[in-house]
Amino acid sequence: MATSIHRIEITGGTHRYDALVGRGLLNRAPELLRPVVDERRVALICDTNTQRLAGRLAQRLGGAEVFAIPAGEESKSLEQVSVLCDQLIAAGCDRSACVIGVGGGVVGDLSGFVAAIFERGIPHVQVPTTLLAMADSSIGGKTGVNARAGKNLIGAIHQPSLVLADLDTLDSLPERELRQGFAEIIKHAVIRDAAMFDSLQPFDRGDLASLVARSIEIKAAIVAADERELTGERALLNFGHTVGHAIERAAGYGQLLHGEAISLGMVAACAISMKRAGLAPAQRDRVVAMLQQFGLPTSLPPGVSREAILDAVQFDKKFRGGAVRFVVTPRLGEACLSTDVTIDDIREAVGNL
Ligand SMILES: NC(=O)c1ccc[n+]([C@@H]2O[C@H](COP(=O)([O-])OP(=O)(O)OC[C@H]3O[C@@H](n4cnc5c(N)ncnc54)[C@H](O)[C@@H]3O)[C@@H](O)[C@H]2O)c1
Ligand SMILES: [Zn+2]
Repeated sequence: MATSIHRIEITGGTHRYDALVGRGLLNRAPELLRPVVDERRVALICDTNTQRLAGRLAQRLGGAEVFAIPAGEESKSLEQVSVLCDQLIAAGCDRSACVIGVGGGVVGDLSGFVAAIFERGIPHVQVPTTLLAMADSSIGGKTGVNARAGKNLIGAIHQPSLVLADLDTLDSLPERELRQGFAEIIKHAVIRDAAMFDSLQPFDRGDLASLVARSIEIKAAIVAADERELTGERALLNFGHTVGHAIERAAGYGQLLHGEAISLGMVAACAISMKRAGLAPAQRDRVVAMLQQFGLPTSLPPGVSREAILDAVQFDKKFRGGAVRFVVTPRLGEACLSTDVTIDDIREAVGNL
């Protein structure tokens, strides 16, 4: 039986592409990829946990090359980019090749960056295999790697030619990794879609397609309005991220998953929104309850220093030069940038986490 596919048309800069969300998409890959891949030589980039999925896809595509990187954030490095570029060249790839990234956000960001710079840019297909990558990181064209001084400091905007989100790939995803993906989905609802927020409830894995599709629509619309973060619109996607990133840094990368840190960051952002944007306390309570329902943390785990979080907030690039831009939500379904938020507001919110 052919199952239904959600198709979201996305505009990024001058570029148009589709995101497809559904089940059984990898089985239909030759047909779905044909418009993009055409006669191109295909290089699949995956990690050690998605190698099996990539192998299956390679088989369907008639024996594409598969390049696996070690799983984990450490692979998002310039060294790994260099290794992959050399491997592509050794395999005979040139500007008529195309890169398909099969994995979570790490593989998506890294393979996208390789595609952005290899032969000055070749097409990239995202095959996200984590909920976070499906609902968030595979959309919007941000690609890149980490520098020693910080995350995602080196990169390029390179929009994918296609995003294939096959929910069947989530079957092997560990529960904690699945849960953290909901943080970004809840974020999209909070900043853009009150009705979606109302309809959110802990889903079994069978019910995800329309939620992922809606999440992609929200992110895509925001990116289409401001691909290069010039108007402030794209910055709204950073709701919960100023404090969330600081918590990730203070906890030591790897202690808390990104979505877990963002969950805490959203709790802090809601407290600040109450003070600076008139968010009703009852709505803050609903966001906190929603995060808890999805098994996400809403109070700081022991051992994470609040002072270290504050130091990390001040290190954050958005605070350089003294100007503080902070994303607040005045009511569920809306967000805006505030310039009224002070570091003391953030100290107070972090103190109450
Ligand atoms: N480009 C963007 O706009 C954007 C947005 C948000 C996050 N990110 C980036 O995304 C990354 C985080 O993404 P992530 O949470 O997907 O991390 P990840 O790619 O490290 O995946 C998490 C873990 O799950 C494993 N995995 C992936 N798919 C699997 C599957 N189907 N079955 C079993 N295991 C599987 C991975 O090997 C890894 O161990 C960060 O580097 C972050 O900076 C980018
Ligand atoms: Zn995020």
